[in-house]
Amino acid sequence: ILRSPQALQLTLALIKPDAVAHPLILEILSNKFLIVRMRELLWRKEDCQKFYREHEGRFFYQRLVEFMASGPIRAYILAHKDAIQLWRTVMGPTRVFRARHVAPDSIRGSFGLTDTRNTTHGSDSVVSASREIAAFFPDFSEQRWYEEEEPQLR
Ligand code: PPS
Repeated sequence: ILRSPQALQLTLALIKPDAVAHPLILEILSNKFLIVRMRELLWRKEDCQKFYREHEGRFFYQRLVEFMASGPIRAYILAHKDAIQLWRTVMGPTRVFRARHVAPDSIRGSFGLTDTRNTTHGSDSVVSASREIAAFFPDFSEQRWYEEEEPQLR
């Protein structure tokens, strides 16, 4: 973790219902990232549909929405100088078969069960990170966070 706020990038990470209390996943998170915010929640189906709207019409959309609203999830804002890419690398590929072969030590490679029950989600770009952070943490202001936390981050 780089201790300079200007150099920190933020991403949104979700821990899905199949993995929500997994101690190893939580340990990986806190070892590799600065945890900026965390919420545990039950997702309303409508919010879930909205979040995944880019996948509407895909064969797995219904299944994905049902699953994500089926039990508690955790949402994190993670900070790191390369947060978006690092979290995606740590998660491993979306498809569990691929994850097990290409990145067996990744979170999905180790703990993923199916392409739906694949433990975690991460924003895929700066634009989606800010949209996804706002979806879970509507009152969060990156600017205000930097200003308030700066003394501790230095
Ligand atoms: S794609 O095909 O590249 O648009 O898919 P991707 O963006 O990698 O992930 C789509 C999300 O849908 C979930 N999901 C599935 N994806 C593919 N195939 C199947 N069968 C499937 N079932 C569910 C997948 O876990 C991704 O969820 P998130 O939360 O975005 O990681």
